[in-house]
Amino acid sequence: MKRREFIETSAAAMMGAILATYSNGMPAAKKRIAMVGTGIRGTAFWGEALNKKFGDLLEFVGLCDINPGRVEYAKERMKVGCPTFTNFDKMMREVKPEIVIVTTTDSEHDKLIVRALELGSDVVTEKPMTTDEVKCRSILAAEKRTGRKVHVAFNYRFSPFYTKVKEQLAANRIGRVTSVDLNWYLNVYHGASYFRRWHGIKSKGGSLWVHKATHHFDLVNWWLDSDPVQVTAYGSLEHYGKNGPFRGTSCRACEHKSKCGFFWDITKDETLMKMYVANEKHDGYIRDGCVFREEIDIYDKMSAQVIYANGVTLNYSLTTYSPYEGFRLSFNGIDGKLDTWEGIPYQRGSFDKIDQAERHSLEMSQIKDETAEGFEELILHRNFKAEPESIKVPKYRGGHGGGDIRMHTKMFRNEPAADIYKHAAGTRDGAMSILIGIAARKSIDEKRTVRIEELTDIKPMPKRPVL
Ligand SMILES: NC(=O)c1ccc[n+]([C@@H]2O[C@H](COP(=O)([O-])OP(=O)(O)OC[C@H]3O[C@@H](n4cnc5c(N)ncnc54)[C@H](O)[C@@H]3O)[C@@H](O)[C@H]2O)c1
Repeated sequence: MKRREFIETSAAAMMGAILATYSNGMPAAKKRIAMVGTGIRGTAFWGEALNKKFGDLLEFVGLCDINPGRVEYAKERMKVGCPTFTNFDKMMREVKPEIVIVTTTDSEHDKLIVRALELGSDVVTEKPMTTDEVKCRSILAAEKRTGRKVHVAFNYRFSPFYTKVKEQLAANRIGRVTSVDLNWYLNVYHGASYFRRWHGIKSKGGSLWVHKATHHFDLVNWWLDSDPVQVTAYGSLEHYGKNGPFRGTSCRACEHKSKCGFFWDITKDETLMKMYVANEKHDGYIRDGCVFREEIDIYDKMSAQVIYANGVTLNYSLTTYSPYEGFRLSFNGIDGKLDTWEGIPYQRGSFDKIDQAERHSLEMSQIKDETAEGFEELILHRNFKAEPESIKVPKYRGGHGGGDIRMHTKMFRNEPAADIYKHAAGTRDGAMSILIGIAARKSIDEKRTVRIEELTDIKPMPKRPVL
């Protein structure tokens, strides 16, 4: 890039990029990155992928995990020479990173984000930003107090499919939107995977209202470009946990494996065996836990109505034991309707045979190099017009619909530099998405409608502010 071109890059275009790729027209020194939480997401999606694709721009200077075996395995897999730590403060003081990537269990994000900011680093955090409103307030306050920046890794926004939805709404193709219907179905492989792990415990993942639905609520907030105001929700646990006909501790050692539809053989996955099973001795974390464990206390059936500051009503549901994975999404506008779906096997008239187990493992492969295969479709139907319009978008099966690689490229190479849809997310976006889920939990517990303003001092706006 020539110096003149660099100077012409506007501040707005830089939004979301976390590395100063060029300085005075010259390539800048490599950014010093540390990571805390070296499970599969940290090691593969952040560690291996960033090294492979952005090694010219950044270097890992420290890895930290409370599990000493897992952090050593991460170092080996990432093929890095940096020191490893089991104490976060010690790592921060010794390696002085410029950026900390937080990829721990959700309920731990807040204290590590706050500490990283206090010790002078910027932060990239995995979603959900955190799991309750008290922790959320402490992150918002720390960012303000320290003047440092937290980026929230909302990868879904970056997929070409979801970007096309944003483009149609921004172009006002169906007039003023008045309501949205979003029904999300997790199949019996993907849905069950949350009940095998810490995600099944509310205090660790905030329930799927927060851990999973943060993605969906963030998309709706971004698509509508408005803030949620109030939430009324329902939810229960009717299939997994104590509802099971039998139970064990892990699938590996279970006496019911021959008759359990949820049996999952972790011993076939070399990576997961080395990363988790080999390190159970340090922390007792069982990666192939029983989906019928008595301790599971999250909901497996969820529905909510959310009212937005611009008057839009969102009708949302999340199911965790569907035979197929997918969603149905509909925007209802004054002048028409925008409908789309993903993964519904019989949507196009014939029955698409989708191997749901394979689909799940492809989605879980954290560094899948995705190539487009077929298309996703949006149907735009304007009032009083007989013919709907079909809008086709290339379909990416891996890497969260192609969102993963695009988010990394925006963050680390600032490409595309000009991003009219503002894909990058900060703490306000991180907060607004989890606050819907936190309000939903509260609504179920307290059997009442919960206002978003009860939870933090962020004032919901009809049009979200540009930060
Ligand atoms: N955006 C996405 O699509 C996506 C996909 C998968 C996971 N994630 C997120 O990534 C994060 C990690 O997920 P995962 O599947 O790798 O989980 P994991 O449980 O496999 O790994 C988390 C690691 O954090 C470590 N840890 C926990 N508390 C810690 C602490 N206080 N200090 C240091 N280390 C600590 C654990 O020992 C573990 O190794 C989660 O927040 C999850 O929500 C996001």
